[in-house]
Amino acid sequence: MSDLKAYLKSQQSLIDDSLNAFLPRSTERPRTIHQAMRYSVFAGGKRLRPILTLAAAEACGGEAENALRPACAVEIMHTYSLVHDDLPSMDDDDLRRGRPTSHKVYGEGMAVLTGDALLTEAFIVLAETPPTKRYSLKELLLEFSTCGGSKKLIGGQVLDLEGEGKDLSKAQLIRIHENKTAALLTTSLRLGGMTANATPRQLAALTDFGYNLGLAFQVIDDILDVTQSTEQLGKTAGKDEAVDKATYPSILGLDKSKKEAARLTKKALAALSAFGKKAVRLEAIAHYLLDRDY
Ligand code: IPE
Ligand code: IPE
Ligand code: MG
Ligand code: MG
Ligand code: MG
Repeated sequence: MSDLKAYLKSQQSLIDDSLNAFLPRSTERPRTIHQAMRYSVFAGGKRLRPILTLAAAEACGGEAENALRPACAVEIMHTYSLVHDDLPSMDDDDLRRGRPTSHKVYGEGMAVLTGDALLTEAFIVLAETPPTKRYSLKELLLEFSTCGGSKKLIGGQVLDLEGEGKDLSKAQLIRIHENKTAALLTTSLRLGGMTANATPRQLAALTDFGYNLGLAFQVIDDILDVTQSTEQLGKTAGKDEAVDKATYPSILGLDKSKKEAARLTKKALAALSAFGKKAVRLEAIAHYLLDRDY
């Protein structure tokens, strides 16, 4: 196993153990909602965002352990966004992380509530993060809530829905990706930096890295939707074209999209020069994401 694969595996199990400790037990009442929350959180998934949180903390000279609460909070917020993204009234997907989607198993009403409960739970998990000299809990909470709000993640999802069936320009597509995807990746990194008492310069470098990595990540997600199988992805392949979503491949074609992902990854990597050797993990993750096949 390559060094990076082993690293990702050990970070994934660290995150899974922490998620398991932070989330309400499935035996707590009402059992249905706690089971449904755990069903989607523990369905698998790359755990990319929390891994970025831990790696950013380390790049800023901090301990991964102090970043575990924000790491879990971003994964829980991400999972909520997927549960709602898959609803029949949104992307209408039957498969997620290799399993039937939440609404397929628990029904639509319960899936809406599961997303709501996960989003709320994410704040409970974040709220006990110890502050540092530069960053109070208020700053962490504002970073997190702003990222999930109507001007960022939700705003991006709104534009994504409104863009269905329309011919969007590249600039309009970038606006969608910045908000629906890059915002949460950036916040994942910034929260990790904050737990390590990052300097303003370090935080700015993480923001630059996250923005470009996030854009590259969504371009690749759109490419994989076209090039991979449902089995490989753990979600229904070819879905974007079927509902006439605006995507990079649909606007620029596959070849240009791949070049764009490589260009954005290069830009992301350039932002890491400020960290020297401390950013080796972040660098390796960026390379890995460009070559990923799910
Ligand atoms: C899927 O995210 C949603 C996008 C923003 C493209 P991931 O590809 O990180 O999904 P999981 O967490 O691994 O399931
Ligand atoms: C999802 O984007 C973005 C969010 C959930 C915020 P997509 O709709 O492209 O993600 P997949 O392809 O369903 O994972
Ligand atoms: Mg979507
Ligand atoms: Mg979707
Ligand atoms: Mg997609």
